Amino acid sequence: MHEAEEARQLVASLCAYLEDLQETGIDGLAYAEPAPVTGTVRLNGSDTSPTASVQAAPVEQENLDQVRLDLGECARCSLSGTRTNLVFGIGNPAARLVFVGEAPGRDEDLQGEPFVGEAGQLLTKIISAMQFRRSDVYICNILKCRPPGNRNPQPEEIEQCQPFLLRQLGAVNPEAIVCLGTFAAQTLLQTKEPISKLRGRFHDYHGIPLMPTFHPAFLLRNPAMKREVWEDMQKVMRLLNIELKK
Ligand code: URA
Repeated sequence: MHEAEEARQLVASLCAYLEDLQETGIDGLAYAEPAPVTGTVRLNGSDTSPTASVQAAPVEQENLDQVRLDLGECARCSLSGTRTNLVFGIGNPAARLVFVGEAPGRDEDLQGEPFVGEAGQLLTKIISAMQFRRSDVYICNILKCRPPGNRNPQPEEIEQCQPFLLRQLGAVNPEAIVCLGTFAAQTLLQTKEPISKLRGRFHDYHGIPLMPTFHPAFLLRNPAMKREVWEDMQKVMRLLNIELKK
């Protein structure tokens, strides 16, 4: 890619990320001085002496507890009126890999934990096949509350919930993200492309490789598609340098 185009894309992606943060109420970020430059640098063709060494201020990274605290007993959309439990997310707060699903179903709503029903059991098998324990990864959803009757998430619900998901992803800062199904992939990638077109290759999510794949609930109805999902997960394993057990 041309350097100017790369820079343009980087700036656009940074602006989108900052706007997302702003929506969640974050109106400033800690500033850290760039690492000191040592040796002689050339500025506009003239030599300058080595720059003074500046102590870099540590940038404080938000953690999941802070995000959970800000979310509170959320009533930002109407789903708060029908939920039993808010389902925030579960797993390793410093996970290398994050799975993002659509929304809690009945079992998740009752237990307050994502992916604990039938689709969740299949996800746990996929995670084990990737040689992780469930507790090694982080699992969350686009929506934190169950849509009544498991209907599709509505745009205004996604809009209210998304800033908190973005903060969760920022706090965990994984090496890779797997989006399970259409809603997760379309929401994080801001596209209308169908999952069948998106899956199977990495996309960029604020610098984090993101692999869309089919939702485990879809696999329960279409077991023949497990092969595609396994191909996608093997790509993720290769990215994370995890060897396949023979
Ligand atoms: N389906 C999802 O997308 N998420 C869950 O947590 C459970 C089922």
